[in-house]
Amino acid sequence: MPEWIPTGLLKPGKMDYMAQTINVLFLAAEAEPFVKVGGLGDVAGSLPRALRALSTDDLKLDVRLVLPRHSAIRAQGERPLGIFSIPRGDSEVQAEAFEGLHEGMPVYFISGDPITASGSVYSLDSRLDAEKYTFFSLAALELQRQINWTADIVHTNDWHTALAAYGVLTQRWEGGIHRTGNLITIHNLPFLGPDVSAVLQSYGLKLAQTDLPDWARVLPLPLGLWASDAIVAVSPTYAQEILKPEANGLYEFLNSRRETVSGILNGLDTVSFNPADDPALGVNFDTESLEKRSENKMLLQERLKMASEPEVPLFAMISRMDPQKGVDVALTALRNMRRSKRKWQAVILGTGDPKLEEAALKLQKDMPNQVHVETRYDAGLARQIYAGADIFLMPSRYEPCGLSQMIAMRYGCVPVVSAVGGLNDTVKHGETGFVFQEPKPKPLADALRAAMKIYEDRVAWRMLQQNGMEQDFSWAKSARKYLELYQSLIKNL
Ligand code: GLC
Repeated sequence: MPEWIPTGLLKPGKMDYMAQTINVLFLAAEAEPFVKVGGLGDVAGSLPRALRALSTDDLKLDVRLVLPRHSAIRAQGERPLGIFSIPRGDSEVQAEAFEGLHEGMPVYFISGDPITASGSVYSLDSRLDAEKYTFFSLAALELQRQINWTADIVHTNDWHTALAAYGVLTQRWEGGIHRTGNLITIHNLPFLGPDVSAVLQSYGLKLAQTDLPDWARVLPLPLGLWASDAIVAVSPTYAQEILKPEANGLYEFLNSRRETVSGILNGLDTVSFNPADDPALGVNFDTESLEKRSENKMLLQERLKMASEPEVPLFAMISRMDPQKGVDVALTALRNMRRSKRKWQAVILGTGDPKLEEAALKLQKDMPNQVHVETRYDAGLARQIYAGADIFLMPSRYEPCGLSQMIAMRYGCVPVVSAVGGLNDTVKHGETGFVFQEPKPKPLADALRAAMKIYEDRVAWRMLQQNGMEQDFSWAKSARKYLELYQSLIKNL
């Protein structure tokens, strides 16, 4: 048994202990407010605290977050905890742990050469990432021993931390008395991670005999899925989609684990995203004062130097410029709607794939009076768009959960979405928005035309907005589902 893996033997009388505390080590590559690249950062920033908030007198949820100490980490007064070493080949790599407190939750940051070597959160060099996240996952497990605290559940997220699940399972296999359950959340199945066979070997972890397809046996996400007791997709519809052949080559394997696969919808940070007191907005509003949105629309049009058109529906797209998000689908649909009988305007905000950025800028050039494009990341402007635009476009090809459609609804911006993943689970057609089947230009354009027609009926439109704003997207619901899953895993350990 590799020496550095915690054995869980420190736990006294498990049954008595369990009634009081569930220890959860929550691993992620990114988490708000420390560092954020995408949706994973939102989830890892909110879910651990939402879980802790479920604690009662009878049950304490001691969830602790552990992150790599990327150079981009915004320090929050964390203190150095100590240095420990992780065996690698004939030598060892030093890991340094720091501890911070975020709203009462211990947050650990792990530093070390493999983490500093790759400057960014995700490197373009897959070898650097393979080393970085393998090291991080193993060091995060070892951290438990350093702080004299043992997880009942190791909760991993996506490929970056999936090897921690593999580490836990390998330890079980090699004869350790395990008391740790593995739960992995899939935020984006196609990202499987780089080949880690060499790196794993150098850290003393053998490649196990798995029932994974050959090509997947050396990749972190498949190994993590294989090692996990529970596999959670970030929405119920995505949980079904990943079992279908179209999802990717893992579908047969996932089907063989069917009974361990479930879907738990992500929540939204409803405190931060609240139009009633969002400081980024020119004018705050709620369901009772929806008419104030028009001032936000005016301010937005002024800021972006767009024609002030209070009555014309303003479409919005705020998205990573990525084929996943159907940005090209939206651009083609808008181009084809050039001569539609109803007037419209559109604002597009986002950065990413240079080809998509270019295509968006080309659309702006060709339709300067209708389309405004900003190719950058701007959280403040995004909030102003949610609060001022009328119709939110999200024609994703696949969408494990999606956050923007929830923010849009909360801000009274009615979403038009494709019927995939979390979009299908959060937007109710005709009630809170418009759902179309195929993420293709024609169905999107048809849905936009239908939306524009209803937009003219102010009473019906207000209903859609209010219904959307009244949805409960808070994290508490999702956190309770995760808790139930933790409890069932612990029972079966
Ligand atoms: C990924 C998915 C997105 C999901 C997010 C958080 O970014 O693409 O759909 O909302 O993870 O789970």
